[in-house]
Amino acid sequence: MNTLPHLLNMPSRLPQVGTTIFTVMSRLAAEHGAINLSQGFPDFSPPEFLLERVTYHMHHGANQYPPMAGVAPLREAIAGKLERLYGARYDIETEITVTAGATQALFTAITACVRPGDEVIVFAPVYDSYLPAIALQGGTVRVINLQPPAFRPDWEEVAAAISSRTRMIILNTPHNPTGTVWTADDMNQLARLVRDTDIVLLGDEVYEHIVFADGPTAGRHESLARLPELRERSFVVSSFGKTYHITGWKIAYCAAPAALTAEFRKVHQFNVFTVHHPSQMALADFMRAEPGFAMDLAEFYRAKRDFFRTQLAGSRFELLPSDGTYFQLARYDRINAIPDIEFVRWLTIEKGVAAIPVSAFIPDGSDHGLIRFCFAKNEATLAAAGEKLRAV
Ligand SMILES: Cc1ncc(COP(=O)(O)O)c(C=O)c1O
Repeated sequence: MNTLPHLLNMPSRLPQVGTTIFTVMSRLAAEHGAINLSQGFPDFSPPEFLLERVTYHMHHGANQYPPMAGVAPLREAIAGKLERLYGARYDIETEITVTAGATQALFTAITACVRPGDEVIVFAPVYDSYLPAIALQGGTVRVINLQPPAFRPDWEEVAAAISSRTRMIILNTPHNPTGTVWTADDMNQLARLVRDTDIVLLGDEVYEHIVFADGPTAGRHESLARLPELRERSFVVSSFGKTYHITGWKIAYCAAPAALTAEFRKVHQFNVFTVHHPSQMALADFMRAEPGFAMDLAEFYRAKRDFFRTQLAGSRFELLPSDGTYFQLARYDRINAIPDIEFVRWLTIEKGVAAIPVSAFIPDGSDHGLIRFCFAKNEATLAAAGEKLRAV
């Protein structure tokens, strides 16, 4: 068991947790000079105007603590976007908080709501930050295992998992790693199940702008913000990292009704308090000047998805649908039958392309023989990876 040094006489609060698979695979890729399609980040630059605005604001006074909730122009830009896209009105004073990345927003919402003994429903494959956050609060996880190839929620199963102890349901749409996108019908089913309960919803919507027009929702992202009935019990989290090619800036936001935001901010102010000031100002300028950038993102990534899929045509990988996000799942059973973790190590070391094993997202470790590629890369990177993968 993973324990702290004996002298401290203190067991680990998170004995099961090791280094995340994303760090492990990126490190392995670097060690072996492999093309890194594992961790989800772009290998191209953010928009020049956005960079220019950060420098501008550093030279024009935005160097001290900004307001705890985030700078007003950025909260205004976020509120404007939520209203334009989802018809949802959020008050910038009491309902929108800028955070240090989506991971922090998710952690803060979980910390603000979950008490020892509470149950939290998650859908697996599940993003790796949720479970440790729930465990640290003493919550119990109820896992709904989504099944390949579609990875769609089975609403009967969700209904059966809900109990009087259910405090929260966490959903992620568009979904990492599967690229599944929830439909309006899914949202209606969810609304039906939580009606007349005290269940809080936590929506991880970091890929909200990457929903492909040829998918089941025809490019429409079904945000928790859209249905008033859901919005009133939801934390809606999105990340500027995914939208503006700035994953390293770690800036995101959480929109939630005033009562939930009040609890959220009680945790936020003693954990993070404020987020990088010049970057917030720059994002506000950029969102005001170029509202179309986020709107064009789905088409930008659809072209990359299609390019990558074309690269893999004729390979021995079988590609699953990708309706959103910048991830592509692939089945490798025509290549060999080893566990997915071993397969990605072999692929990285012997074949020069790094990917993520899907079992790393599944708490019971179920192995569907699937790996995840990130196609948020330049065409040259995708073409070079394609050449190597066709030879596998
Ligand atoms: C589903 C999901 N949620 C949250 C995050 C974290 O976002 P951030 O980098 O803003 O913390 C990621 C990043 O990969 C993600 O894929």
